[in-house]
Amino acid sequence: MKHFLSIEALTAADIEALVAKAEKLKAERGQHAARPLAGQTWAMIFTKSSTRTRVSFEVGVRELGGNVMFLSNRDMQLGRGEPIKDTARVMGRMVHGAIIRTGPQSYVEEFAAFSGIPTVNALTDEEHPCQIIADLLTIKEKRGGWAGKKICYVGDGDCNVPRSWMWAAARLGFDLVIAAPEAYQPPRAFRDQLKAPNITFETDVLKAAAGADVLYTDVWISMGKEEEAAERVEALGGYQINDALLAAAAPGAIVLHCLPAYRGKEITEEVLEAHADTIFQEAENRLHAQKAILVGLV
Ligand code: CP
Ligand code: NVA
Repeated sequence: MKHFLSIEALTAADIEALVAKAEKLKAERGQHAARPLAGQTWAMIFTKSSTRTRVSFEVGVRELGGNVMFLSNRDMQLGRGEPIKDTARVMGRMVHGAIIRTGPQSYVEEFAAFSGIPTVNALTDEEHPCQIIADLLTIKEKRGGWAGKKICYVGDGDCNVPRSWMWAAARLGFDLVIAAPEAYQPPRAFRDQLKAPNITFETDVLKAAAGADVLYTDVWISMGKEEEAAERVEALGGYQINDALLAAAAPGAIVLHCLPAYRGKEITEEVLEAHADTIFQEAENRLHAQKAILVGLV
C-alpha cells in the first residue's frame, strides 16, 4: 500500500488485513518495542476541524516512534493560494508522510501524486476511509464480524461516511441499506459504479432498519454544508436513530456513530447514552485502525 486515499481503492483482502492488524496493535498496545516510524516526521494538513482524527493520528504516529507536525491552512501558504502540487513537492522533500483532511478528493490525490510520500485521507467530501476501518473493527469486536450481517445507515446518505461504507460493502459483500430521503441518496451514477446488489436504497426508514444488526448514523450537516442547515434539518427530520427505530432492528442490534453527535437530530440522547460504550469504543478504535494504516504505509 503506497497511499491510503479511499476504501474504493482497496480490495477485500486489504480491508481485512487492516482490521486484523488494528486488532493486534490494540491487544499489544504499550507492550511492543517496535518503532516502525522511528526517525520519521509526518505532517498533518487539516483545512477542516477535527477532534478524533487529529488526536488519534498525533498519538498514533508518536506511539509508532515518529514525530508529527500539525498544520492548518491558516498557517500555510496553501491558505493564500499556493498550489497543492507545489506544496506537495516541497513537503515531499522534507517529511516522510502526510495525513490530510480537506474538501475535494482531488486534493489528496494530487498531493499523493506530486509529493511522492505516503499520503493518508483523513476525510474529504467523498470519503472518510480511516473511520470505516475503525467501524469494521468495532463490528468485529461486538458482533464477531460483518459476514452475513445487515448494516443500516440512517441520515444523509450522500456524504463521505456513507460513501466509504458503500465501498466497504461493495468490497466485503455484507448487506448495506442506505435509509435517506431521495434527495439525500447518492446519485444514480455513483450507485452504478458500486456494482453491488447487496447495497440497497430505501426512503422508508423503518423498513430499512428491519432486522438490522447495526444501525449507523452521521451528522445531517457535514462540514462545508452549514448554509443548508435549515433545509437539511427539515428534510432529514424523520431519519433519526431513536427507540422506535431500534425496536425495528434485530434484537441486540448495536448502534454506531462516527461522532460528533448532535443529540435530538440524527440520534436521540437516550439512544446515544444507552449505546455509549459501543460508540466510544468505536471512537477509540480510530487510534488502533490508523496505527494499522500507518504501519502498512512504511
Ligand atoms: N469522526 C471523526 O472523524 O471525528 P473528528 O471530526 O472529530 O475527527
Ligand atoms: N460527514 C461528516 C463527518 C464528520 C466526521 C462531515 O464531513 O462533517
